[in-house]
Amino acid sequence: MAGGKLTVKTLAAMRKRGEKIVALTAYDYQTARMEQQAGVHVILVGDSFQMAVLGEDTTLGATVDVLIAHCRAVRKGAPDALVVGDMPFGSYQPSDETAVASAVRFIAEAGVDAVKLEGGNDAAVSRVRAIVSAGIPVMGHIGLLPQSIRAEGSYRVVRSDSEEMLLRQTKDLEEAGAFSMVLEMIEEEVADRISRASSIPTIGIGAGRYTHGQILVVNDMLGMNRSFNPKFLRKYADLNSVMEKAIGNYVSDVAGGTFPGEENVFKGRGKAR
Ligand code: KIV
Repeated sequence: MAGGKLTVKTLAAMRKRGEKIVALTAYDYQTARMEQQAGVHVILVGDSFQMAVLGEDTTLGATVDVLIAHCRAVRKGAPDALVVGDMPFGSYQPSDETAVASAVRFIAEAGVDAVKLEGGNDAAVSRVRAIVSAGIPVMGHIGLLPQSIRAEGSYRVVRSDSEEMLLRQTKDLEEAGAFSMVLEMIEEEVADRISRASSIPTIGIGAGRYTHGQILVVNDMLGMNRSFNPKFLRKYADLNSVMEKAIGNYVSDVAGGTFPGEENVFKGRGKAR
């Protein structure tokens, strides 16, 4: 990556210079490698894995063990990007001690640079403070909180009547030591005012144009799911069609006996690759 290894300090400096922060999720080695190559600054190994990769309806079933395995792959593929491990449901809610123990695992076992957790209420702020006190950088996350789906009932845009609460949460998370904050599904004007009020970089998803950076779920922006078309998403590819076509071609080649071809077969004592 041009400029070497990215750190939380790099993000603060980028915000100061008015440079947009580019963030994207990744869950595997190859995607992380391509993202770093393309210049993505922050790679989040999100608990969105549970929905985007495993096809679940919520993120609630994600586990520390599984996310750590994916964090390791992403770390390997993107040694210079700022890799953030997403703390899944249940890994920090019970207590500050649980939160620190889970965060330590992400750092020690997966080698990520930071962790992220959802929420801006007193309990979440306390978890952020405890993890930061243990020397681990934390990214906050306010607005729509997918891990609170059972309490909220649906995934909805957060509107201006929540602005006062969001501004308070922003201040609290900053004071607790968060180095950055995801703003998810917040009306643009509100996200703009939060971004101006905050001293740390904000990274938006469905939060309009004025946050300090943007993040998307990589499977979504690559168009892997034809039926997922929310307003905030821009699809940069149609991998659904590309992959369906390629797999269909493979099926007909095998069925028709044209794969393997002459060029794919071993004869004599040649090398395997
Ligand atoms: O899990 C995730 O991918 C996230 C992003 C949508 C911010 O939390």
